[in-house]
Amino acid sequence: MASSHTLLVLYGSQTGTAQDTAERIGRQAQRRHVRVRVVALDSYTVANLISEALVVFVCATTGQGDPPDNMKNFWRFLFRKSLPVGSLCRLDFAVLGLGDSSYPKFNFVAKKLHKRLLQLGATALLPVGLADDQHDFGPDGVIDPWLTAFWEKALALFPPPAGLQPLPPRYVFHFMDDVTEKPADWSQDNEHERESRLEHSFVAHMVSNQRVTHPDHFQDVRLIEFDITGSNIDFSAGDVVMIRPKNAPDDVEQLCNLLRLDPERQFNLRPTDGAAAPVPARLPRPCTIRQLVESFLDIASVPRRSFFELLMSFATNELEAEKLAEFSSAQGQEELYSYCNRPRRTALEGVWLCRLWWLGIVDYLLDLFPEIQPRSFSIASSLLAHPNRIQILLAVVRYKTRLQKPRKGLCSTWLASLDPTQGQVSVPLWVKKGGLRFPSGTDTPVIMVGPGTGVAPFRAAIQERTAQHRNGNVLFFGCRSESGDFYFCSEWEERQRAGQLTLFTAFSRDQEEKVYVQHRVSEQAGLLWELISKRNAHFYIAGNAKQMPTAVCDALKRAFQSEGGISEDQAAEMLMTMEKAGRFQSETWC
Ligand code: 2AM
Repeated sequence: MASSHTLLVLYGSQTGTAQDTAERIGRQAQRRHVRVRVVALDSYTVANLISEALVVFVCATTGQGDPPDNMKNFWRFLFRKSLPVGSLCRLDFAVLGLGDSSYPKFNFVAKKLHKRLLQLGATALLPVGLADDQHDFGPDGVIDPWLTAFWEKALALFPPPAGLQPLPPRYVFHFMDDVTEKPADWSQDNEHERESRLEHSFVAHMVSNQRVTHPDHFQDVRLIEFDITGSNIDFSAGDVVMIRPKNAPDDVEQLCNLLRLDPERQFNLRPTDGAAAPVPARLPRPCTIRQLVESFLDIASVPRRSFFELLMSFATNELEAEKLAEFSSAQGQEELYSYCNRPRRTALEGVWLCRLWWLGIVDYLLDLFPEIQPRSFSIASSLLAHPNRIQILLAVVRYKTRLQKPRKGLCSTWLASLDPTQGQVSVPLWVKKGGLRFPSGTDTPVIMVGPGTGVAPFRAAIQERTAQHRNGNVLFFGCRSESGDFYFCSEWEERQRAGQLTLFTAFSRDQEEKVYVQHRVSEQAGLLWELISKRNAHFYIAGNAKQMPTAVCDALKRAFQSEGGISEDQAAEMLMTMEKAGRFQSETWC
């Protein structure tokens, strides 16, 4: 039986989904009159777990099976050998994992956490929930039934009084009366300085932003260069740069108009009793509405169910109320999926469901929209070839759905819109270790398969390795056509001439039949077998085509069979052994 009457929701979130889900559980708890705290795992003092009554853990698993950054300390603590078995025997818990079953280590973190808590003596209220991005209805397809089962059990520990109350906002806005006088520290540079202090980021200047695909080619791909002089940033091939985008000016205007708010109006936020967390430190004090909407509120992503749950309280007529209630219900999830996820409708477009706005909703802005999350980009250059510079290769995301307006990627559209020839462009950024690691031995060859923008980390590796006189760089590059999107063509030619690179290209649309990188891999079976079996080569795949990595792996295994005279099982075993030894690595995204 629960000893304290507070439910604790702890989350480990990488992209914000786990945080959003945790906050949704927090709101559901409040509606059920259950006192609740929602805390990021690394902001929680783990030693206090022994005196908690009921804890829900909402944990994402990242692509490589690692825990998200904001639960790494917790993770280390929990797996200390010195923790006595049975030390959590008073704790009831439930683990909800968020993952993607297209990755081999699907929900690894949640499963491992569940096991470890049991080992420490805690009692599971229900089996671990394994939400899956690949589910037909997205993660909610698993989360919703899991939450229903959870509340059934949890309410036995926290019996609710009859009737539900409206939900308070987490923060209230205190508008400053004098809107004309700007505080001394309110300027672009200070804004960047504050961000850079908080996120340990560096305010880099954009040096160039150059289209590398032919103007007639369907896709706009940019090579963007940042100056990081004075930053002490160090990185190696395979690392990534993190950049937090801003909303498009039109979208900012649109939301301000909807809210009937002057974008220049200034406010300070005060946490309410319902706030499980302090005011986000990234927001300036005071803050303008424009600042909040432009840099903080994620209005361009597809809204989650919690968005409609909250909007429901603001419906102004029966019709709105009915629609919102449907989207918030378990039965309405298929409908919600076809309304929002399938056509990629944005949260900003979703708010039109509620036609009338009154000032009361302003207090709920931070409950309604999640925070804009930073995006990671593979670094496409090496400091050894481009000192004090970071280059990224960016495909500007733009596509059609059944909605009239084309869909645009927030970060790529924002970055592509910045023009350093028209004045100084400052972009706060920071660097993180990436998933790909290249061998340190001088004689170890590397085979890299990177179609499209997947070539970015390999360009960094080739630059780094040739500067270090490391030979044996083999690159398989694929694109649609030699004239349309064969970027870095002259750079590769020069390196081939200098004997620094062996290049195989697959121009998929330059002939009748599609030719892909995996076809080239098959054609080079002999060379690959030689490099891998005799010279201990490493093999890498990067790119965003969903089926490409599997097709390349299959081609490689077939090469092992034909050249090495081994069976299908032995070939698979060989690839697995390479993977375990770090000699086969892949980084894919969609
Ligand atoms: P396509 O668009 O002509 O099908 C970079 O995007 C390159 O990857 C393009 O040439 C693209 O070809 C190709 N590509 C698309 N699907 C692929 C797959 N399943 N395997 C390998 N390459 C693929």
